[in-house]
Amino acid sequence: MSFDDLHKANEQQLTSTVDKIVKEFEVTPEKLDELVAYFIEQMEKGLAPQDNEDKSTNKGLPMIPSYVTGTPNGTEKGTLLAADLGGTNFRTCSVTLNGDHTFSMEQMKSKIPDELLEPTGVTSEMLFAYLARRTQLFMKKYYEADMQAGKEFKLGFTFSYPVDQTSLNSGTLIRWTKGFQIADTVGADIVQLFQGEIDKLGMQNVKIVALTNDTVGTFLSHCYCSDNTDSMTTGEISEPVIGCIFGTGTNGCYKEEISKLTKVPQAIRDKWAEQGKTHMVINTEWGSFDNDLKHLPTTKYDIDIDQKFSSNPGFHLFEKRVSGMFMGEILRNVLVDLHSNGLIFNQYRTNAQLPHRLQTPFELDSEVLSHIEIDDSTGLRETELSLLQSLRLPTSPTERREIQRLVRAISRRSAYLSSVPLAAIIIKTGTLEMRYHGEVEIGCDGSVVEYYPGFRSMIRHALALGPLGAEGERKTHLKIAKDGSGVGSALCALVA
Ligand code: GLC
Repeated sequence: MSFDDLHKANEQQLTSTVDKIVKEFEVTPEKLDELVAYFIEQMEKGLAPQDNEDKSTNKGLPMIPSYVTGTPNGTEKGTLLAADLGGTNFRTCSVTLNGDHTFSMEQMKSKIPDELLEPTGVTSEMLFAYLARRTQLFMKKYYEADMQAGKEFKLGFTFSYPVDQTSLNSGTLIRWTKGFQIADTVGADIVQLFQGEIDKLGMQNVKIVALTNDTVGTFLSHCYCSDNTDSMTTGEISEPVIGCIFGTGTNGCYKEEISKLTKVPQAIRDKWAEQGKTHMVINTEWGSFDNDLKHLPTTKYDIDIDQKFSSNPGFHLFEKRVSGMFMGEILRNVLVDLHSNGLIFNQYRTNAQLPHRLQTPFELDSEVLSHIEIDDSTGLRETELSLLQSLRLPTSPTERREIQRLVRAISRRSAYLSSVPLAAIIIKTGTLEMRYHGEVEIGCDGSVVEYYPGFRSMIRHALALGPLGAEGERKTHLKIAKDGSGVGSALCALVA
């Protein structure tokens, strides 16, 4: 066989292997139906009393009560502080709600230092001291005189991790997700930790009055900003139902009837009822949907990422197939595997010789995938440059074509799976049948849903293919709630 023939045979083998992998990433309409049905079942289990005796039983989704029982209507007014610890950044903001669905905001943002994400040697004190110092810098820049005059500030803290919320302004960390691994934070009260470090810096007049998950913040902010009344008639035409994040992580919350929250003791629910409370926003923590892997599509790459590379093996398995933190890591694992089978990047003999960045877990950012996804340049030049720049990885035109097919398969699976909790909540709450027009609004935030090309339309496509059908999809509106978590925690601080 000539060199050219060998080369061709190798390329064909690469293409047929990629065909198989792409097939494994497909999510069929039948699978969507199955997943939506299972998601509803898992929500119901998570709302019901938990059986503490038998730890082996499946407890369903976490379904965490947020203690938020009302939703804003856009007339709220005031200036409040908000702090927001997400998967990648920390922000301190002051939010002015103008009372007419609009707001203005000052903010200071910093990337979480890598040292705080180390697997060992980091303590809660180190993390929260850092957050307090950043808050102090913000206060000095914008409110120095007020601080010196002893003015009181209310702060809403968006903490985007699973917290067992015990009141609007207290809650303990259940477990870290998305990269942090600080052991002594688990089980500790997040507000006490942060307030303690704020106080140590002599800022006792900054009081944390609300603790919110980012999805809850996004939901409230969407309710505040959305003017969902039809000016031609007097009635509301669409109902904000879900607040969700598709970014570094993924999660969502929705408004549930308190009477269905049977895991909360009856006496407490009676008290809420006496106070006229009928609904509560529930943080589903859907990132941990189907941790038992009964229904989620699973490839060998998903298993490797969870077991070998992630900081919380066995947990948040839905998030590991969907969110921005994992899309690039899935591609990286596929490429390394193809290389070890001699199908790609054959200029490097062993995996150990691959460019360092391709060998490093989580080094392949989903932003790179977003460039490859829409590359229609001749010979996929954009892809070539993007891979060179981000990974120092030279590629041939055939390799790039196959990489683009892989990228599209990974992002499509992510978006199709993202449609599952949305459809499930819409069906469970019966929102589409509630009003004459039965329109549903979903407030979303996060880098993937906001910036990944075509992500929202792929979600819509999957909504139509799944149990909602084309009619349900048409009535469902996915809206970006920009700066959702900051505005939302300010709204929480306002009512606290
Ligand atoms: C992770 C966290 C969750 C958060 C989500 C989005 O899934 O567990 O609390 O809402 O990321 O940031």
